[in-house]
Amino acid sequence: MTDVAQRLEGTFTLLAVHADAPDTVVGARHDSPLVVGLGEGENFLGSDVAAFISHTKEALELGQDQVVTITPTSVEVVDFDGVPAEAKRYTVDWDAAAAEKGGFSSFMDKEIHDQPHAVGDTLLGRTDPSGKLVLDDLRIDEAVLRSVDKIIVVACGTAAYSGHVAKYAIEHWCRIPVEVELAHEFRYRDPIVDEKTLVVAVTQSGETMDTLMAVRHAREQGAKVISIVNTHGSTIPRESDAVLYTHAGPEIAVASTKAFLSQITAAYLLGLYLAQLRGNKFPDEIAAILEDLREMPRKIQTVIERGEYVRATARSMKDASSVLFLGRHVGFPVALEGALKLKELAYIHAEGFAAGELKHGPIALIDEGQPVFVIVPSPRGREGLHSKVISNIQEIRARGARTLVIAEDGDDAVRPFADEIFWIPESPTLLSPLLAVVPLQIFAMSLATAKGSTSTSRATSPSRSRSSSRAPRREGAA
Ligand code: M6R
Repeated sequence: MTDVAQRLEGTFTLLAVHADAPDTVVGARHDSPLVVGLGEGENFLGSDVAAFISHTKEALELGQDQVVTITPTSVEVVDFDGVPAEAKRYTVDWDAAAAEKGGFSSFMDKEIHDQPHAVGDTLLGRTDPSGKLVLDDLRIDEAVLRSVDKIIVVACGTAAYSGHVAKYAIEHWCRIPVEVELAHEFRYRDPIVDEKTLVVAVTQSGETMDTLMAVRHAREQGAKVISIVNTHGSTIPRESDAVLYTHAGPEIAVASTKAFLSQITAAYLLGLYLAQLRGNKFPDEIAAILEDLREMPRKIQTVIERGEYVRATARSMKDASSVLFLGRHVGFPVALEGALKLKELAYIHAEGFAAGELKHGPIALIDEGQPVFVIVPSPRGREGLHSKVISNIQEIRARGARTLVIAEDGDDAVRPFADEIFWIPESPTLLSPLLAVVPLQIFAMSLATAKGSTSTSRATSPSRSRSSSRAPRREGAA
């Protein structure tokens, strides 16, 4: 196998069994996932742990360019030169039930309902006994992190939208400039990156090729990379200088939901960690934000419990052929994510805009009956933000738009301008995306179902997995 692996080009995972030794399986990987399951008198190979989780939770994470030979009782790892190599052993922290639908109509439905836990679990165990925030696997000198003068978030699709939310929070808390760049754009241009740049790679699967290439490129330029990843044993955390794992459990549905919320949560933790390290915030300020964060799972649960009204609205709109989404500040990435979910699931035209951009062209799209979701910020939040969005709603209503408003409980100012209102509990503005996106997920799923699309139940399959633990390398969006 080592001879073959050395001669192969491109990305591969290769398995071989010799007809004369059927109890021995040899596997090799280069830029493609391969995980070993360690059982009692049995061992397994899979592209991710979901393949063998019903047999064992013990796994070996193979490194890049390694060859593994398994029999029922032994596992040997060598590199492509045949030299014995180390592979990292770990225990999977979820079980087979997490990868099943558990009575829900689709994996997406289940994963929407998993969100309070996904956020809660991502917050768990993040402080040391003295109350200080800690990262999972930090291989960066703290002095280096103190000297960082720019952060670039690299990611694709939904993960990139979580990066947009991170930008607002990290810049506000840490006063470090944050850029968000689609990984496939980053890797094909000539980004300005040096030793003082911190690159944050966000990925559910940990295997998205564009994001991996961006990570490699950034490190070649001397930048440090922290990855926010859901999938243990995947490639990107291994190639990063530090990792912050999200604990969303396996995300089976193609349309990302709980991974998005846990990515945002992890990004908040990273922002607070940097603020702590660099002294931008006092410990009691950080503790207060953490306390607000710990309230979020309960509030997300409330939004989910209010889902029937969203579902009924979606059913009434099953003939819609275009839906627009508007938001400002952190509501803008929420609008982008709402549009992405709808395109991906219901296969209709959907677009998200920064509400302030309306008058610069997109308002021409609004005519009689055009459904427009508007994410209204808290009236208690940043001065002027709420009233600006209210005037945006008035503008589009004047053109005949049907306004579907996501607003905070008790925000009576929106009532006169909303055709439908989806209420979410009060929260600090920076944390509000964790709530505001949930009705949009439910809406997209329900509209897709009403239209008879099968996409909500589209889940990973052994041949085309995309999940926390199961995504094969993907070039584009899932
Ligand atoms: O596994 P990743 O987070 O790196 O995947 C990135 C995107 O492909 C992914 O977020 C995609 O946009 C969502 N599945 C869409 O719902």
